[in-house]
Amino acid sequence: MYDNNPTLENIAKTVDPNKQGSVLETYSNDDSNKKFYIESYGCAMNFSDSEIVASILAQEGYGSTSQLEEADLILVNTCSIREKAEDTVRKRLSVFNKVKEEKPGTLVGVLGCMAERLKKKLLDQEKLVDIVVGPDAYRDLPKLIHGAEDGERGVNVLLSREETYADISPLRLDTNGICGFISIMRGCDNMCSFCVVPFTRGRERSRDAFSIVAEAQDLYDQGYRDVTLLGQNVDSYKWENPDTGKTVSFADLLVMVAGVHPDLRIRFSTSHPKDITDEVLYAIRDYENICKYIHLPVQSGNSRILELMNRTYDREWYDAKVKRIYEIVPDCTISSDIICGFCSETEEEHQDTLDVIRKSKYSLSYMFYYSERPGTMAARKYEDDVPLEVKKRRLNEVIALQMQVAHDHNKADIGKTFKVLIEGDSKRSDKDFKGRTSQFKVVVFPKTENLKKGDYVDVKIKEVTSSTLIGEIVKAG
Ligand code: SAH
Ligand code: SF4
Ligand code: F3S
Repeated sequence: MYDNNPTLENIAKTVDPNKQGSVLETYSNDDSNKKFYIESYGCAMNFSDSEIVASILAQEGYGSTSQLEEADLILVNTCSIREKAEDTVRKRLSVFNKVKEEKPGTLVGVLGCMAERLKKKLLDQEKLVDIVVGPDAYRDLPKLIHGAEDGERGVNVLLSREETYADISPLRLDTNGICGFISIMRGCDNMCSFCVVPFTRGRERSRDAFSIVAEAQDLYDQGYRDVTLLGQNVDSYKWENPDTGKTVSFADLLVMVAGVHPDLRIRFSTSHPKDITDEVLYAIRDYENICKYIHLPVQSGNSRILELMNRTYDREWYDAKVKRIYEIVPDCTISSDIICGFCSETEEEHQDTLDVIRKSKYSLSYMFYYSERPGTMAARKYEDDVPLEVKKRRLNEVIALQMQVAHDHNKADIGKTFKVLIEGDSKRSDKDFKGRTSQFKVVVFPKTENLKKGDYVDVKIKEVTSSTLIGEIVKAG
């Protein structure tokens, strides 16, 4: 469940930014098996981790269920990015606790970032939780579950410098069968002052490049046609081949994965403006199947605020990066994350954020008001002094402007023809297909015979809204 957005948070699965409370579908009907139920919150990485957890549990003979009442083990994979995300999990835990009261013996486990942030405290606060497991400790789940079955409440929140789960083949359960996600790295070494992720996910580490290519190949073989490479900061991906001593950069990795098949689209998220290189931009330009879309969170349009946020770039630097992207890849779209009302932000500084939205011509943004997180640099050093009403008003202004900018962006597509990957039926009507352009825009168009999800079609755009392009097929395949 995307607690309500971010970057990675939003792109997960069928890439629904506001998807709430995703539950993995049932994959085993074998009644002799014990069953687990898992709910996931937060970013795409968390969703991806849930699929690793499902794989580890399957090895232990557990099947999954989407029915809470059927479960022997209830897991919640949590997010700590904003206070609201944690509040949602607490509410869900009280629901799980009721289920447990009605069916004694049911185990409840908290996984993910909130587990990592609160550690043993969670067991003290939530009396009915049996296990608490951090993002790097999922291999220990079977042991902790056995302990809990014997009445021992357990915690493992050890962070690792090496763990990438490279050898675990994720069980893809909640999926449209076309869009898949591959974790290419874990952790984050940046220290954005507002952000809890470095504390909950630990140090940055990159996964074996060959295991990533193999996973992409496997997804392609299963019918997937769109893979997103996931990391908090993908541009700092760096993996040294132990056999040759050669280093694989993110640009190298993109090209390697693009080589799996020309019909496999490659996306990635998230790029940090300080780290995205020209080599990455050249790879996007030169390979048709590397998508013309970059998520490049700005956070604020004002240099003083960016410095307080410890983003390590200023406004001029960001503007130059955006210019470079449009120069090298003219048909690229750019999206962003924005935080409104960070500590000490003035009205003028807020205007700079509105300005960066206009200038960068974002096709979409994930927008939030600042939520202080315990232990972060901002919580320790700065006062959270922008009143909540002001934060909310600024956020509303940012949202209204972004909608207008997105609408204008879409209007410029009227009359153009795009290669669209069909992802399935449109939400509104089974007479229409829904797909995406390389630029990550959603396109809706009437179905024709002999086409199915996973096919590519050329669609000419006739009309648009701020979030959708509407068109007609001009050429199949
Ligand atoms: N690694 C990604 C972002 C991960 S968190 C990146 O660097 O872009 C996703 C988004 O959540 C961030 O980009 C930021 O916009 C938002 N966010 C993070 N901490 C926040 C906080 N304390 N309050 C409000 N929004 C926050
Ligand atoms: Fe958080 Fe910054 Fe790392 Fe993104 S790059 S996860 S915002 S610390
Ligand atoms: Fe992701 Fe939330 Fe953790 S955004 S990394 S699940 S704090």
